Amino acid sequence: MTTIPITLLFADGVTHQLSATSGEKLLDVAASAGLSLLTDCSNGQCGTCVGSCVSGSLELDDYDPSVLPDDEREDGAVLCCVARIYEPVILELPYDSSEASAAEAPAQAGRVHSVKRVAEETVRLEVDVEAPVDFLPGQYVRLKPEGQHEWRSYSMANGSGESRLVFYVRIVEGGAFSRWLSDEPAAGTPIEVSAPRGSFFLRADDRPRLFVAGGTGLAPFLAMLRAIGSGKYLAAPTHLLIGVRTGEHLFAKDEVAALQREFPALDVRYAAESCAPDGCHLGYGTDLIGQMTVDPRTQVYLCGPPPMVEAGREAMAKAGLRKSDALCERFA
Ligand SMILES: Cc1cc2nc3c(=O)[nH]c(=O)nc-3n(C[C@H](O)[C@H](O)[C@H](O)COP(=O)(O)OP(=O)(O)OC[C@H]3O[C@@H](n4cnc5c(N)ncnc54)[C@H](O)[C@@H]3O)c2cc1C
Ligand code: FES
Repeated sequence: MTTIPITLLFADGVTHQLSATSGEKLLDVAASAGLSLLTDCSNGQCGTCVGSCVSGSLELDDYDPSVLPDDEREDGAVLCCVARIYEPVILELPYDSSEASAAEAPAQAGRVHSVKRVAEETVRLEVDVEAPVDFLPGQYVRLKPEGQHEWRSYSMANGSGESRLVFYVRIVEGGAFSRWLSDEPAAGTPIEVSAPRGSFFLRADDRPRLFVAGGTGLAPFLAMLRAIGSGKYLAAPTHLLIGVRTGEHLFAKDEVAALQREFPALDVRYAAESCAPDGCHLGYGTDLIGQMTVDPRTQVYLCGPPPMVEAGREAMAKAGLRKSDALCERFA
């Protein structure tokens, strides 16, 4: 059988030569060579796995064009998680080879502790695991309930090093995990929990921070604020903008207020696209960026649905911040 040569160029200069058969998925070819390329959603919805074709091209399965606009694709950008090989290609990856070589720790068995609807389309899920999970604040795990075939990614809202994990999950119509959760699994129901993953975590520096959350995109910020409140990270000036679809979708307000008591320099603002309660901006959370005076050194963290993340990147550029100062986590 004819094989097709693939060259992977990592940011640290390390090169890997692989060979594929026509139509093979890039991730499978890399995995057979012991490389675990960085991915989050694994289905073309988040943009974490972007790479750049220096020579040749890759075919892409379905993906969300908002995470890979056509002009970027024309310039050679690809989403590795949905890429298939049909011709020789040289692909540049924006991270060091060590990040792709590290074997992921095995998943562990967990059990549902509780499931509680906390707002419109929003459920708080608590899962108990035997070994406490250490993670960088903002990271996520993959969950696979008993009887389900697919893993889904959810960000921890609890603090690192705990054996009860807290998630806030938006219920999406027709979604597999959403359906399982809507049926309110009983306490004790088995659920597998992967090792923590992801590059969307709190950076340990003294720069002012702007956190922008869309819906359940608030979850990783709760973990970050817990870490700041516990004194593990510098309490640099921090703004938290929380945008939701309607006032009925607001959740975890008490939790945010408690975190604000531990970290008084935290400035919190809410926005709802409709039925905004008193004190809550009527519109998008990202509108609020234009209404603030932001320090040009600000590190921006954006987490939520892809259109919200894009709107946030545009708003920060208009506010005089550099798009390269944004860390993004796209929930899709
Ligand atoms: C890094 C990361 C962290 C995340 N963290 C969180 C979090 O903390 N909280 C949170 O709420 N979400 C989070 N997400 C999103 C989450 O992983 C899931 O994508 C989301 O919960 C939907 O999963 P699901 O199984 O319910 O829906 P899916 O089964 O994945 O379906 C998603 C959508 O596609 C539609 N769909 C499904 N199958 C088909 C089909 N065959 N044809 C057409 N449409 C179809 C469904 O109707 C639904 O609208 C995160 C995502 C990433 C990548
Ligand atoms: S991992 Fe490829 S787009 Fe999310």
